[in-house]
Amino acid sequence: MGEWAYSELRDEIPLLLSEMLDASRRIAHIVEDMKDFSRPTRAQQLGPFDMNEAVEAALRLAGSTVRKATDHFVADYGAGLPAAYGDFQGTVQVTVNLVTNAYHALQGKDRGIRIRTRFDEDRNRVVLEVRDEGVGIAPEDLPRITEPFYTSRREEGGSGLGLSISSRIAMDMGAKLAFSSTVGKVTTATLEVPVFQEKD
Ligand SMILES: Nc1ncnc2c1ncn2[C@@H]1O[C@H](COP(=O)(O)OP(=O)(O)O)[C@@H](O)[C@H]1O
Ligand SMILES: [Mg+2]
Repeated sequence: MGEWAYSELRDEIPLLLSEMLDASRRIAHIVEDMKDFSRPTRAQQLGPFDMNEAVEAALRLAGSTVRKATDHFVADYGAGLPAAYGDFQGTVQVTVNLVTNAYHALQGKDRGIRIRTRFDEDRNRVVLEVRDEGVGIAPEDLPRITEPFYTSRREEGGSGLGLSISSRIAMDMGAKLAFSSTVGKVTTATLEVPVFQEKD
């Protein structure tokens, strides 16, 4: 084996293998996001849906991971919400992306995440809020976070596609996705979805 002493190889190879494994996991993450990204033609199925059911479905997918990241997880389901109008599956996907970003932002299990649904009567919108006590987003970065491939988590396998996919899903169903943040304190993602209007 040329220049390499056996003892060096014996120490190095497990390290190399574990680095390769890490790298392949990061790539797998990115590929998963890319698959979503390159699938813009999934026909949206627009119709009335229950926002609380969308949150429940999202938490069935992401809830156990989130609860591992924080000891303060609260889901606050608004009572008596009117039916929302939009794409149920798309809303689930957006919610998973928002919750995933929220727990990635946490610096310790003592920091909390709160999901809340409510009805904004004045604006006639069903609102989903995902609020975290994580690192926050600097004002100058805020306009960029929904850009494709913008990520501050490149090293951890961030693809920077989650929010770009989410904002497109929101736009396509006539909903609005917005963010506000105080660095080091709190970040809130808000999805505002139209209310289902019954035709007479
Ligand atoms: N809740 C949050 N707290 C802090 N930063 C966030 C939050 N949500 C999104 N961001 C920022 O927006 C970037 C883009 O998010 P996203 O499109 O989901 O890509 P990714 O999660 O792969 O980095 C993140 O890398 C992060 O910098
Ligand atoms: Mg993300």
